[in-house]
Amino acid sequence: MRLDIVTIFPEYLEPLNVSLVGKARARGQLDVRIHDLREWTHDRHNTVDDTPYGGGPGMVMKPEPWGEALDSIIESGSGSGDSGDGSADASGDGFDGAEAARPVLVVPTPSGKPFTQQLAVELSEKPWLVFTPARYEGIDRRVIEEYGDRLDVREVSIGDYVLAGGEAPVLVMVEAIARLLPGVLGNAESHRDDSFAPGAMADLLEGPVYTKPPQWRGRGIPDVLLSGHHGKIARWRRDEAFRRTVENRPDLIHRADPAAFDKKDRETLSILGWAPGPDGRFGPLAPDVEE
Ligand SMILES: C[S@@+](CC[C@H](N)C(=O)[O-])C[C@H]1O[C@@H](n2cnc3c(N)ncnc32)[C@H](O)[C@@H]1O
Repeated sequence: MRLDIVTIFPEYLEPLNVSLVGKARARGQLDVRIHDLREWTHDRHNTVDDTPYGGGPGMVMKPEPWGEALDSIIESGSGSGDSGDGSADASGDGFDGAEAARPVLVVPTPSGKPFTQQLAVELSEKPWLVFTPARYEGIDRRVIEEYGDRLDVREVSIGDYVLAGGEAPVLVMVEAIARLLPGVLGNAESHRDDSFAPGAMADLLEGPVYTKPPQWRGRGIPDVLLSGHHGKIARWRRDEAFRRTVENRPDLIHRADPAAFDKKDRETLSILGWAPGPDGRFGPLAPDVEE
């Protein structure tokens, strides 16, 4: 998979050399290219921002450098796969510029659609992503419109809060996406049981996990985990997932398709004080249970 990131703070993305993503890069599973937006400015001060039309506080990122940067990056994928900036295509995943000729443009913004595990899965199946982390009050709207006419553009928020820039959101998204790529995690199964994993965990949080020693500061571990009984362990884990979700994210249970819950799930939910409402969806029975 190829990832291009355009930023005015390339050094902010240093963590992409570390740990799982760094190793995936070193192995050639991820071809990450970080670009300094200021290279596409032409004035002495390398200006990337200007005052907003209509007045008001803050600055807005100018469209011209973004347009030149994105044109150049998109163009680099339309031929042999050579970036045109001297960096080699190290993807080694069969990326030859044909399937990947048009990247998905991922625009981090608090006003975008939420970044979810489902979106991470979807993006992990694309051969080429281009990220545009902004600063100031964001990027001149015409840039999004311009590329929206030619590319699959996703405006994405990593949460209901405002950061100073889009680099941290890009780090978040790249890590979530990269760990889903085949061969990146040591155990290919490990993300199947994660919180939010599409399938049985789609609307559930993972329950607690334990490791050795069996006793720590007088605290043991649940007996069932030592039983060696795979069926009972799986059931316990699922019950704990329900317990934690009801506690921390009841909205997930409420929005879940009730058809995804089997008889045992329903029993667990009933013990936790949840029952199906008139629309079949589960909700808390007792009025004092927070929804
Ligand atoms: C200070 S923010 C701009 C906030 C903008 N004025 C608003 O209220 O929507 C600057 C940049 O940080 C990034 N950013 C901040 N919070 C974000 C979030 N929750 N999700 C994704 N990107 C975010 C975006 O790239 C954004 O353009």
